[in-house]
Amino acid sequence: MTMKPLIAANWKMHGNMSWRNKPAEFNEILPTAERRHLDVLICPPAVLLAPLADKRGGTDVWLGAQTCHDQVSGAHTGEMSADMLSDAGAEYVILGHSERRAAGETDADVRARVEAAVKAELIPIICVGESLEQREAGQAEGVVEKQLAGSLPDDLTDYVIAYEPVWAIGTGKTATPGDIKSMHAFIRSRVWPTTRILYGGSVKPANAQEILATENVNGALIGGAGLEMESLAEIAKAAP
Ligand code: G3H
Repeated sequence: MTMKPLIAANWKMHGNMSWRNKPAEFNEILPTAERRHLDVLICPPAVLLAPLADKRGGTDVWLGAQTCHDQVSGAHTGEMSADMLSDAGAEYVILGHSERRAAGETDADVRARVEAAVKAELIPIICVGESLEQREAGQAEGVVEKQLAGSLPDDLTDYVIAYEPVWAIGTGKTATPGDIKSMHAFIRSRVWPTTRILYGGSVKPANAQEILATENVNGALIGGAGLEMESLAEIAKAAP
């Protein structure tokens, strides 16, 4: 099934107020008219959501958050609810990123956050992926299957999955085209035919075309190469 690819930049903990012009900068490099066949998303640190939303004008660059709390409000110092993020301009939210799972976030936590995101009308991007040890032990599919089963509420319909092998994140190593193809086919068998499945892990202009052309790869979740609009645009141009 053909679907609109999603090219998503996760800025992680990078950026400052001067970055609020980046959606406009991106739009100059790759104008909306030249990318109607794909969706482009930037997920900045939460504090930059409102400034980016303010400056994005008619650029058609979507905005997303990097996590959300599972409660609507309350005594949760330092946390942000899905409603607050939506109010600040987010349309998507990344949930269960491996960097958060490594800090203790469980499948049950991710599931509760997904439920909160959906209530706030944010589209969750749910991250799954195995460690190098797990892959070498032949457990990659089992790990991903467990993460999917534990993180996705039963009645979930509008969501995105990001497959990010942990060992490929920020390391310059990407999974082989064969590994990506087979894991994405496996994930496809567990989600809706219309669910977008992104690949993430050292995606850059040099490897984007091959990755994005792989069957069942419906876009990319990009870390390092999504901080500069030139390289994000190069990746977006490689999307089929
Ligand atoms: O969310 C993005 C991923 O963690 C990938 O990061 O492109 O820097 O490897 P990376």
